Amino acid sequence: MPQTHTKPVPATLVAGARAIVSASQTDEKVRLAYAVSKAWFQRDLALGTPTRDGAMPDRPGRPDQPVLLAPRDMPKRKLGGDGSKIALIHSLAHIELNAVDLTWDLIGRFAHIKLPRSYYDDWVRVGLEEAKHFAMLEDRLAKLGAAYGDMPAHDGLWQAAQDTGHDLAARLAIIPLVLEARGLDITPPMIEKARAIGDEDTAKVLDVIYRDEKNHVAFGAKWFRYWCDRIGQRPESSFHTYVRKHFRGNLKPPFNDRARSEAGLTPGFYKPLAPLIG
Ligand SMILES: [Fe+2]
Ligand SMILES: [Fe+2]
Repeated sequence: MPQTHTKPVPATLVAGARAIVSASQTDEKVRLAYAVSKAWFQRDLALGTPTRDGAMPDRPGRPDQPVLLAPRDMPKRKLGGDGSKIALIHSLAHIELNAVDLTWDLIGRFAHIKLPRSYYDDWVRVGLEEAKHFAMLEDRLAKLGAAYGDMPAHDGLWQAAQDTGHDLAARLAIIPLVLEARGLDITPPMIEKARAIGDEDTAKVLDVIYRDEKNHVAFGAKWFRYWCDRIGQRPESSFHTYVRKHFRGNLKPPFNDRARSEAGLTPGFYKPLAPLIG
């Protein structure tokens, strides 16, 4: 299905989620995420079903650039001079673009399961915020004379979606409660570093992202507990099982215990998965 700027908003949330993930141009992905979220919150969209609206694609649509590399081939990024500043913001933009696709995939892929409307309200809000995060970082890149696609990016994040595409609990365990929770650990030092080198504009963008991401983890914790309750599993021990099965390696300390707890992700979830000597 061609995506153009004149294309109307898809007729259902599931069709919208599919269109967002499929869109190959980032401006179209962002535009659709804004339009579908708005229509959903105005209650103009029915939920739809994957059977009628089409299955979610195996891989998201992506622009020709950036070139995607295996994670092990990626250089390390630190916030320092202008070149490394651009490289760091570029890598964060790539993470947010993946977050857009991962969130809308979550919305569309499991829509055959009967879930409360508030579940979709929460994740549509997340899907909108991820698009906003990507757009804000793209804007920072433009101000620094760069653009998303200028440098290589890694291809590891979508793997998590493919590994957990069959199981809602596994998906919630890995994406919000491992990957987004990790964002809560590493973003505050990044904000401090940006301020220390006088890059207040980047610090402000990261501040917004950090605040929003706390909610994303909170939604993850809420719906993971809800789903465990529905399928008769204990949240903490199930979390350990899913993470050991679908996530390679230990969870890395130091943890932002306070932010994690505020989001409902208490130490009983993640501490047993960290190495004994961190
Ligand atoms: Fe984000
Ligand atoms: Fe997020």
